[in-house]
Amino acid sequence: MRPTSILFLALATQGTSATVFKRASTFAARHTKSLARDLRVAFGGILPRDSASNAQHVIYCKNSPPSGVLGSGSNSDSGVGSGSSLSSGVRSGPASTTKKGSTPTGSAKGPSATSPWQLTQSYAGSNFFDGWDFWDTDDPTHGTVQYVSRADGQSAGLIEINSAGNAVMRVDTTPSISGNRKSIRITTQKEFTGGLIILDAFHAPTGCGTWPAFWSNGPNWPVGGEIDIVEGVSDYTNNQATIHTAPGCALTTDNPAKLNASASAVTGGTDCAAATSGNAGCGMRSADNKSFGPGFNSNGGGVYAMLWQSSGISVFFFERGDIPDHIDAGAPQPDKWGLPMAHWPAAVCDPWKYFYKHVAIINTSLCGDWAGSAWTSSGIPGQEQSCAQRTGFSTCSEFVQKNGGSFAQAYWEIKSVKFYNTTAPL
Ligand SMILES: *[C@@H]1O[C@H](CO)[C@@H](O)[C@H](O)[C@H]1NC(C)=O
Ligand SMILES: *[C@@H]1O[C@H](CO)[C@@H](O)[C@H](O)[C@H]1NC(C)=O
Ligand SMILES: *[C@@H]1O[C@H](CO)[C@@H](O)[C@H](O)[C@H]1NC(C)=O
Ligand SMILES: *[C@@H]1O[C@H](CO)[C@@H](O)[C@H](O)[C@H]1NC(C)=O
Repeated sequence: MRPTSILFLALATQGTSATVFKRASTFAARHTKSLARDLRVAFGGILPRDSASNAQHVIYCKNSPPSGVLGSGSNSDSGVGSGSSLSSGVRSGPASTTKKGSTPTGSAKGPSATSPWQLTQSYAGSNFFDGWDFWDTDDPTHGTVQYVSRADGQSAGLIEINSAGNAVMRVDTTPSISGNRKSIRITTQKEFTGGLIILDAFHAPTGCGTWPAFWSNGPNWPVGGEIDIVEGVSDYTNNQATIHTAPGCALTTDNPAKLNASASAVTGGTDCAAATSGNAGCGMRSADNKSFGPGFNSNGGGVYAMLWQSSGISVFFFERGDIPDHIDAGAPQPDKWGLPMAHWPAAVCDPWKYFYKHVAIINTSLCGDWAGSAWTSSGIPGQEQSCAQRTGFSTCSEFVQKNGGSFAQAYWEIKSVKFYNTTAPL
C-alpha cells in the first residue's frame, strides 16, 4: 500500500494542470478507500472490534449532490438547476453578520424561518449530472466493477433523470458477464473546505455484493482527510459514517453519547489516522435500521447532512418522514437538528488541519475489499445470514458475474445534492 500511495502522490505533484491533479487525487481517493477497507478487514470488522476472526464490515454511505451554483465560492458554474430555486427563501436576513446559532427566528418547521445558511451549489433535476466528473478507469479497491463514462452510462441505461425528476444511477443487470460489471462513480468538480452538504435520496443500492457510498475526500490521502457519510455493503440496514486522517486526529472516547452522537457504537477505535489505525479510521454505526439498505429504501429514503465547522464534523440522518421543513425549504437550520448520528469533535482533531479541499463522491462498487471480504460475514443488522449462505455462491465476484438480475435494487435515486454555506465564521 505504501509504495502505491507514494506513487499516487508523485503523480499528483507531477501534474501541472488541474485535470491531472484532479485525476491524481481521484486515484488517491480510491486508493484511500481500499486502504481503509484493508484495514477494516484486518481489524475484523467494525462491530466487535476484537473478533478479528469475523471479518465484518458494516459501512453505509449515501449522499446526493446538488447542481447549480449560487453565491460566492463556487468555481464550477453548472447553472442553477431545479434545486436552486430553494435558495430564494434562504437568507432573507443579514445572515452575513449573524452568528450561525442565533439566527433562527421561526419555528423549526416552516419555510418562512430564516437561516444563515445559503445555497451555494445544487445538483438536482434535469441538470443533476452537470458539474460531476465520471470516473471511468480501474477500481483501485479491487471490485468486480467497471466504472463507465457519462456517455457510456447513458447509452447503457445506467444513468437517467426519471419521470419524477430524480437522478438514477444503476448497476448493469446483464444476466451473465465474464469480467467486471458496469457501474457509476461520480465526483463533484466543486471543492469545499467546510460548510454543509445535504443529500436527499429515495433509494440507495442494496443487495449481496454491493458497496455503495456517499463520501468526501481531500487531496493526498489521507493527508486531506476522508469523510464517509453514507456507507455499507450488501443488505446492511444501519449506516456507518467514518473519518480517515493523517496521524494526530483522534476521538477522546469511544462512547458515542459522550461525543454527542446518537450512534450505537464507535467502530474502529479512537485513533482516526489511517496509518496507525490499520486504516480503520473512526467509524460510527447508526442505531437506526432505516438509515441504509432495505430499511432506508422501504421507508422512502431520507436526508443525510454533513456539517463541517470549527467545532468538529457531524453527520445527521433524517428518515423520510422526519425531514425538517426548513431543509425542504432550502433554509437549513442545523442548530435545531439535535444530536447528530455521528460527531467527530475538534478537541483532538482540528477540522481545518486534517480535512481540506474535499470533493463529494457517489459510487456503487461491487465486491472488492469490503463487500468481498464481508461475503461470508453474518450477524450484522440486515445481514443476519451471510451472502454466501443466502446465494449459494462461495465468492462475491462469481455471484456478481453470474447474477445480473440480482442488481435490480442496486441503484441510487437521488432528489438532490446541495452545498450550503454561511458568511459567518464556520
Ligand atoms: C466506492 O465507494 C466505496 C465506499 O465508500 C469506497 O470504499 C471505494 O473506494 C469506492 N471505490 C472507488 C473506486 O471509488
Ligand atoms: C464555505 O465557505 C468556505 C469559506 O469561503 C469555503 O472554504 C468552503 O469551501 C465553502 N463550503 C461550501 C460547502 O460551499
Ligand atoms: C456535547 O454537547 C455539550 C452541550 O452542548 C457541550 O457542552 C459539550 O462540549 C459537547 N461535547 C462534545 C464532545 O462535543
Ligand atoms: C428494524 O428493527 C426493528 C426492531 O428490532 C425490527 O422490528 C425491524 O424489522 C427492523 N427493520 C429492518 C428493515 O431491518
